[in-house]
Amino acid sequence: MRRRKKILLALAAGAILLSGYQIYETKKLENAQTIPEYVFTYAENQAADYPTTMGAYRFAELVNERTGGKIEIRIYPEAELGDEISVIDQMEFGGIDFARVSVSTLADRIPKLNVLMLPYLYRDSAHMWKVLDGEIGVDFMDSFDGTAMIPLSWYDAGARNFYSAKIPIEKPSDLRGLRVRVQENKLMVDMMTTLGASAVPLAFDQVYSALEIGQIDVAENNWPSFESTSNYEVARYYTVDEHLRVPELQLVSKVTWDKLPEEYRHVIQQSARDSSAYERRLWKERERSSEKKVRDAGCVIIELTQEEKKRFQEAMHPIYEKYGSDYGELIQAIMDMEE
Ligand code: GCU
Repeated sequence: MRRRKKILLALAAGAILLSGYQIYETKKLENAQTIPEYVFTYAENQAADYPTTMGAYRFAELVNERTGGKIEIRIYPEAELGDEISVIDQMEFGGIDFARVSVSTLADRIPKLNVLMLPYLYRDSAHMWKVLDGEIGVDFMDSFDGTAMIPLSWYDAGARNFYSAKIPIEKPSDLRGLRVRVQENKLMVDMMTTLGASAVPLAFDQVYSALEIGQIDVAENNWPSFESTSNYEVARYYTVDEHLRVPELQLVSKVTWDKLPEEYRHVIQQSARDSSAYERRLWKERERSSEKKVRDAGCVIIELTQEEKKRFQEAMHPIYEKYGSDYGELIQAIMDMEE
């Protein structure tokens, strides 16, 4: 009897050991499954809590979840991988896999994109989104065909406004003779020259010190960027003229894309679109909170009447002639779009 009991006990212990081993094996297998097959880089030049960066984190999370951990996307905010122009250069040979950049940094390479950022093209944000979410938005994405990048989704970047360290900008002639920082984009350079200012193309992260040391007098950007970069500390006059709406794009390098199986491409495209919906919600909130912070800090906010805005609009006609003459019908279709 005793012997039988011992045998039974030994068998039971064996079974327990076996099941423990099985659990261990299963866990190992699970872990093995979460070891990513692909680890990608994602470049972002904004701070970690900025809406576009939060959108990037959401994108990476969705892709990881939906591929059962097979794809890991590592986000590098605050231009850790370089400024936007160098990020695009690196994407061309697959040195960086993903990025979110401002359309203006792409438009010198893909001229049709200039149409999207013509000054005063849209009545408001809803108008721009109607364009981007519709067929025209798809057409613009198609203009990347034959390049080394594939666009994934549009992100919101609101409207850009002038801000000045010296004098309040109330009318186009106030800009005459001033040094205005612009993004590295020809259309923007021409805009400032048309207004009689001298354009100073600079990377985003250099604007604060350029204002501080007087290398530039004026810059221009949306409320969240004006606030998040602390540029409002060194340029106290903010003019709400909304001269440009420059959307952002999430991109993937074609070198990276070509490595991926079809099913993962779908996941990436869908996750990018989902992250865009998220970013657009965050954007609205951040626009409000940034505006409040800047106002509370005592900046002088110059609101323009329709009449005053019109003067800026009229001054921009030469830009339409130079950058829009090949796209007359397209521009008309955008302008005629009802909300
Ligand atoms: C926006 C945009 C940035 C860009 C910046 C600029 O803030 O989100 O990506 O670099 O404008 O003015 O350069």
